[in-house]
Amino acid sequence: MALHQLMRAIGLFVVATVCYISVHNGTSLFTWHPCLMSVGFILLMSEAIVAFSSKSFIATNLKYNDRLNLHGLLQFSAATLIGIAFYSIYTHKNNNNYDHFASRHGNLGFTTCIMVGGTTVGGIAARYSGLFKKSIKPAYLKIIHSTFGVMTYIMAIFTFCLGLDSEWFRSQSNDQVVSVLIYLAGAVALLALIKPLISIATKLRNTFKTR
Ligand code: HEM
Repeated sequence: MALHQLMRAIGLFVVATVCYISVHNGTSLFTWHPCLMSVGFILLMSEAIVAFSSKSFIATNLKYNDRLNLHGLLQFSAATLIGIAFYSIYTHKNNNNYDHFASRHGNLGFTTCIMVGGTTVGGIAARYSGLFKKSIKPAYLKIIHSTFGVMTYIMAIFTFCLGLDSEWFRSQSNDQVVSVLIYLAGAVALLALIKPLISIATKLRNTFKTR
């Protein structure tokens, strides 16, 4: 689908630019942080969200169950990179005796990382929702997971933009580059979220109509 191809092209450009700017003055434990967060959220998590679309080119010929597995694999890979990226900034700060969670980016980032953990657990529960059907309707579990997942992704995009707006990143690039990257990250998020938002609204309408 053209929208997804555009999402991938813009996403690749954003991630390549952020990684280049982050490492062009040398690498350290810290530089893993922006690079892995970018790949985890902008590339893998966006791809995991669109993996459900029958028009997504990597999922075109896949049956629904295989698409679920692809979605799970991409989310799991994203969560692993995000975990390493969190470890790298946390250890970097410990090694330098810096305060933790001392900025808006740090606080929102910490919340986002916890939400990624929650979304992952919720995704496993939604995948095996049949096991819990005595206590909660599978359709509810799925709606809760997709709604929470979308909220996590939106939080991540805000956090990502605050990271680009940080003193450190501005000192490595310039104001125009930061502004362009922020607009482009917003465009990736919009392109990834159009379909899920329509689908959540439709599911909610159908679920409450059949009550
Ligand atoms: C959505 C993706 C991201 C998340 C979830 C995230 C999360 C975090 C967290 C939790 C911290 C604080 C760690 C601590 O205080 O122990 C932090 C710090 C930091 N991050 Fe990110 N980050 C993300 C993306 C980025 C990006 C893309 C950049 C730069 C381009 C960046 C630059 C920084 C910097 C410079 C710090 C240290 C200063 C501060 O604590 O604000 N981050 N990040």
